[in-house]
This record gives sequence, C-alpha cells and structure tokens, in this order.
Amino acid sequence: MDKKEHFGSKFGAMAAIVGSAVGLGNIWRFPYMAGANGGGAFIVMYLGFVLMVGLPIVLSEFSIGRAGKGNASSSFSTLARGTKWYLIGILGVVTAFTIMTFYSIIAGWTAHFLKEAILNRFAHQSEAELTASFKSFVNSGWQPIIWACLTVALTATIVSRGVKKGVEKFNKILMPTLVAIILVMCINSMTLSGFGEGMDFLFNPDLSLLTWQSALDALGQVFFTLSVGMGVMITYGAYVRQEENMVKSKAIVVLIDTSIAIIAGIAIFPAVFTYNIPPTSGPDLVFLVLPNIFSQMPGGYFFAILFFVLLLIAAVTSTISLCEVITSYFTDKFRVSRRVAVWVAASVIMVLGSLSAISQMDGSHIRIAGLNQFDFFDTLSSNYMLIGGGLGIVIFAGWFFGRRNLYNIMTYNGRYNLGFIFPVLMFFIRFVAPLAIAVLFLSKLGIFKM
Ligand code: TRP
Repeated sequence: MDKKEHFGSKFGAMAAIVGSAVGLGNIWRFPYMAGANGGGAFIVMYLGFVLMVGLPIVLSEFSIGRAGKGNASSSFSTLARGTKWYLIGILGVVTAFTIMTFYSIIAGWTAHFLKEAILNRFAHQSEAELTASFKSFVNSGWQPIIWACLTVALTATIVSRGVKKGVEKFNKILMPTLVAIILVMCINSMTLSGFGEGMDFLFNPDLSLLTWQSALDALGQVFFTLSVGMGVMITYGAYVRQEENMVKSKAIVVLIDTSIAIIAGIAIFPAVFTYNIPPTSGPDLVFLVLPNIFSQMPGGYFFAILFFVLLLIAAVTSTISLCEVITSYFTDKFRVSRRVAVWVAASVIMVLGSLSAISQMDGSHIRIAGLNQFDFFDTLSSNYMLIGGGLGIVIFAGWFFGRRNLYNIMTYNGRYNLGFIFPVLMFFIRFVAPLAIAVLFLSKLGIFKM
C-alpha cells in the first residue's frame, strides 16, 4: 500500500520529526526525571542509552516505515506477510492513546500558564501564593480538563489538514521559534546566582546514586524523548522521500533532541537552586519553579510568556505526531476520511484525559497499582509499553528484516557510503539494544537481581 501523502521538503520532514521528538519530554519530563534520580548520574546513563539504544531504534523504526510504506501496523504486514509482527504496530496505536491521555493534560497546564503569564498573574506573588494557585488550578477539576481538551482540539485541527498542509507546515514555523526561545532562556539562566550549583548538579555525577530503577527510568526517558517504540518513526518514515541520507538526518534529529534536553536542564536547574526548590519535586517541578523565578526576575513578564509559548509549541508539535500515528492507522484500517479518524481519536483522548486530570486532584480515589491514573499511565507507557514495543522493533529489524535489507534502506541501495558506521549500528541493533532492554526489563520485573 503506497502512501499518497508525503512531506514536501527535506526541511519540512526534518521539522516534523524534530517536532515530534522535542516536546514536554525535553523541557518538563527530563528535568524532573533527572532531578528525582540524582542529576549527573542520571544524565550519564541517559546519554549512554541515547547512543546505544535510542539511535539504533530510531533507525530501525524509520527503516521499517521507509520499506513498508504504510502505517505503524501495515508496514509490518507488508514486510512480513502472514506473521504476527503487525501486532507491534497495534500496541503502538494503543500506546499513542495512553501517552496522549496524560500528555494532553500537561499540554493543557501549559496553555493555562500561558494565559496566566499574559495576564501578568505571577508578578509580586510569594512562593506560597504561587504554589497555592497552582494547586487550586489542578484541584478545580474542570479547569485542567477544559485546557487539555482545547490543546487536543488544536492538535486535531492541525492534523486533519493533512501531512503537508497541517503537520509539516506548522512544524516548519514552530520549531525554529522553539529553538530560538530556548536559547534565550538558557543564556538568561547564566546570570542567576544558582548557576554554579545547578551546573554542578547536572554535570557532576554522583555515581553512588545509580540504581536499577534509575537505569530503567533513564531508558524509559530515552524512548519517550526520542518518540520511539510506538510507530511515529514508522509512520513518518513512510512520508519521507526515499532519496535522503536517512542515517545522517536521523543522527541530527537525535543530536538536536538531546541538546535541547540538556539546554532545558541548563535553563531550569540554576533557577531551582537559586529559589531553593527541591529538584526532586516530580511532575510539578517546572510549573512550581518557573513562575517563582518569573515573579522575581527582571523582565519576568516577558520571559514568562516566552517560556510558556515555548512549552506549548513543544507540546503541540509532539501531540501532532501522536495523533498522526492513530490517524494514519484508522484511515487505512477502517477506510474512513482523515477528518473522521482525527476527531474520533480526539474524542476518546478527551474522555480518558479527563479521568486522568481528575485523578490528580488531592484526595482522588482513582488508583491503579498504587499510583494515581496520571502517574500510572506515564510509567506504564514509557517504562513498559514503549520499551516493549522498541524491543519488538529492533528484533524485527535486526533479525527478521535483516542486515541486507537494512543496508539497502539505510544506504539507499549503496548510494551513501556509511563505512564502519553500518557494522557498528548493526551490532547495536542486533545485540546491544535488545540486551540492554531485556536486562533492565527483567530486573525490574524482579526476575533476576544483580
Ligand atoms: N517525544 C515527545 C516528547 O519528548 C513525546 C512524544 C511524541 C512521544 N510522540 C511520541 C513519545 C511517541 C513516545 C512516542 O515530549
């Protein structure tokens, strides 16, 4: 099945893929994960996994899309007729829904905070007042739901316009804006008194803090931040023209994504230490820390708006990709129009997302496996579903699709000479990535202990 839609230009394709990768994962999730897991020690593992597991899976996934030319699931069916591999794609579509339910809530928080910033609500507020107003927002129940539904509706509106006129066009405008804003934020952070302490926390690893749990969290974060393990790269891979040098362009995507996470860390941790907020605050971290800074810093009004615009762009360019995976699957599978597929998916997400928002209210009794529904879905999707999907994807690519096919796809039938890089990548795809995932997974399930 050939996809009729394609990205219009190399830059557009790059913007869309970077737009998917760079998201709340970089600016909201990465800082609190690093903060909760010891800073530098977490970052060392994170960088190791990016190179040895993340990049190989990005390339495997993208190759499957390029060769299979279908959606997250049908690409497998095309490459492996009569087998059950397509189930990995179905797991991916389910994962997209799971991620969207909590991701859209945070995207909604972001939109709400942008409104507050524009109305200058952070000015002259004490730390206690800011915390209280954040809590009352979350506990109001309906406010986070409305904001989340608005961001889902925005996403759906863009995605229903199509690959070129929606997904690509918006990313081409928004992603360069995002990069410019985060650089400004990072430079500003260098003027804060906590800069040294923040940098020390980020880059001076205390290796005694490494645990199996923090290793699994680091791996989960790599999957999440690179948008791998559920078929975004398969879906987008089918939209990219075949001629490009995919290994180079995907390495650039991984580099940009990783740099933006680190730059976000540099923008945020000095402030965390300057204003004495515990780096272990969890998902609230960015939302507690930043309004505090903005209320006190010179030019805070301007920076607050800038930052929440940044976060909202990051969020929406990522929800676009999650929504596109579902849309591409639904339109092929159920032969419905893009518009119908998009709005059905959006409606389901709004309902599930609302439950997730309610579960975050103080005193909520919605609990799954001891976690509120929000944390449960976050952990379930990153640490289990994405990693499980990623394991299937590398095994499929490395062992079933195989070396020769991967070579032809990655080098465009030998046109790009990858030299020693190809055998190294093959080694990572076949052995290192699956083993790293399997070991962490099993240790987590308590099947063995080191
Ligand atoms: N990578 C995005 C982020 O860091 C989130 C995201 C978008 C994602 N699409 C995904 C995560 C697909 C996993 C799979 O915010």
